[in-house]
Amino acid sequence: MNRRHFIQTSLAGAAFSALTPTLAKADTAELTAEGSVYYTQAKPGRWAAKAAGHLPRIEIDKSGDEIKVKVSTPHEMRGYEHYIVKHVLLNARYEFIDEKRFDPARDSVPVSEFTLKASPGERVHVLSLCNLHDLWLASAEL
Ligand SMILES: [Fe+2]
Repeated sequence: MNRRHFIQTSLAGAAFSALTPTLAKADTAELTAEGSVYYTQAKPGRWAAKAAGHLPRIEIDKSGDEIKVKVSTPHEMRGYEHYIVKHVLLNARYEFIDEKRFDPARDSVPVSEFTLKASPGERVHVLSLCNLHDLWLASAEL
């Protein structure tokens, strides 16, 4: 690298560094994932008319040391044309616990069940993914 190229590169890097905090701050302030990257009952975004058929429903059944989490999405399974791809169970910190993938050739309804060790009061989150209408999130307390 010759001296002239080094100086040009350094100046470009300095200029970029000077602009980056401003851009990052603006992006953070304007971006919100809920209602744009994933959808909820409160923020169904562009799929507001589709919320009823895409929000996952969560039923909690506590018995002994275990908690059963049953998830259903009231959505059709019309072959590979339009179906629920999977349910994903996340813990209170949105960390992956488990998932159930659906095959519309075999699964007539998008229902999944997960068994957890009892953690009363902890929250779980569920994602339901439609192949046409994106990703939906619902939450429940154990
Ligand atoms: Fe859908």
